[in-house]
Amino acid sequence: MIKPDAVSAGNTGAIIKMIEEAGFRIVAMKKTQLTMERAGQFYAIHKERSFFNDLCTYMSSGAIVPMVLEKENAVEDFRKLIGATDPQKAAPGTIRNLFAKSIEANAIHGSDSDANAEIESNFFFSHLEQF
Ligand code: GTP
Ligand code: MG
Repeated sequence: MIKPDAVSAGNTGAIIKMIEEAGFRIVAMKKTQLTMERAGQFYAIHKERSFFNDLCTYMSSGAIVPMVLEKENAVEDFRKLIGATDPQKAAPGTIRNLFAKSIEANAIHGSDSDANAEIESNFFFSHLEQF
């Protein structure tokens, strides 16, 4: 998911180009916006964290571009492509190193397991939209 800071900064196209050049196939994609409640559902795993309310406010602050991606070893390879959560620690050339503004407004989200990738794909897309 390309997050609100990267979409509003006009970096959607550059990020999609990096994703495709890294060998990912785009299975489904759209532009949409989360409500505070939907952002809370998406990041429910973090609901006890001190930054949860700020995170939901930020995630619902503007348009996002969720996508379903396909590749061998996709979860691990995508997390390498996006870099560490904190852009100060993200390796040079990673998406967060290039485009993230802060540890919160960090440009992009990647699923952390195949099981969560399936849950998150279904959160944004109906089965008919995934082909
Ligand atoms: P995602 O791919 O978005 O899940 O990021 P991640 O897996 O690298 O990090 P994590 O799941 O631990 O945190 C989810 C999101 O919460 C991060 O991407 C940030 O947007 C935000 N976040 C994480 N840590 C902090 C923090 O210490 N402060 C604030 N304000 N936001 C944080
Ligand atoms: Mg995470």
